[in-house]
Amino acid sequence: MDILLWKERLIKLPLGELHLFSEVDSTNLVAEKLIQAGVEPFSLVVADSQTAGKGRQGRDWITRPGEALAFSWILYPEKGRMQPETLGRLSGLGALAVAETIQEKYGLQTEIKWPNDVLIEGRKVAGILVDAHWQGCQLIDVILGIGINVGKKAIPEDVQFNFPGCSLEAAYGSEIDRLDFLVDVLESLLKWYRRLAEISLIKAWNDRLAYKKKLVSLNSPQGLLAEGIVYGVEEDGALILETHRGETRHFHSGEIQLRLVDRS
Ligand code: BTN
Repeated sequence: MDILLWKERLIKLPLGELHLFSEVDSTNLVAEKLIQAGVEPFSLVVADSQTAGKGRQGRDWITRPGEALAFSWILYPEKGRMQPETLGRLSGLGALAVAETIQEKYGLQTEIKWPNDVLIEGRKVAGILVDAHWQGCQLIDVILGIGINVGKKAIPEDVQFNFPGCSLEAAYGSEIDRLDFLVDVLESLLKWYRRLAEISLIKAWNDRLAYKKKLVSLNSPQGLLAEGIVYGVEEDGALILETHRGETRHFHSGEIQLRLVDRS
């Protein structure tokens, strides 16, 4: 990754400070330190590789040099946009920006596995990690971390994953320019961020929702939470499931893992 060249392109976007690295532990951890030092809103941390990338539910996230995109976007509460009420929409916003960019730029069909995994043909190509920080009940800042498997070597063959993964280049069938792709994803992120409080975001999320009308299970680290048919995403980002008793239940993302139930 040519840091100067990347900075030259990214500086044209309406972001805050740009912090680009060839290697970090985790861009979300770097973002946390920058926030403590008083970084500007909408600042961006990008790394070519991560040595301790963080996934959801305490899992690791692998980012190999030259093969992926790993970045964190720093947001502070803002009137009419990022607020505790819209926090549940942020993971969908990240997934939507990635999913839409892949589909529009590379013509590949994408879906969003609630809350925020981007799938191509049922395989995970990108994941989002939202780290929100609170002081009591006051939201202080949010780090929107996005990891995308771009190159064919992004996913090591000798590591076992809890969900099948894929890379964008393998799905597309030819090389992808990571910088072009990053700029496109950021433009889409900025577009959807402006619409964070609008219902159009939830509609677009629902349009791409994976497993609609299918039976899924929701699991927490403690075990099975519920099984039900996927109905859609609620205005606050909660998943709506219809259970076999005909009840409608709403789930907020937290530590939940969603799986398709195959009873064939
Ligand atoms: C998941 O699907 O489990 C979420 C993965 C999020 C990975 C990204 S890569 C950039 C940012 N920095 C991290 O340490 N994690 C997120």
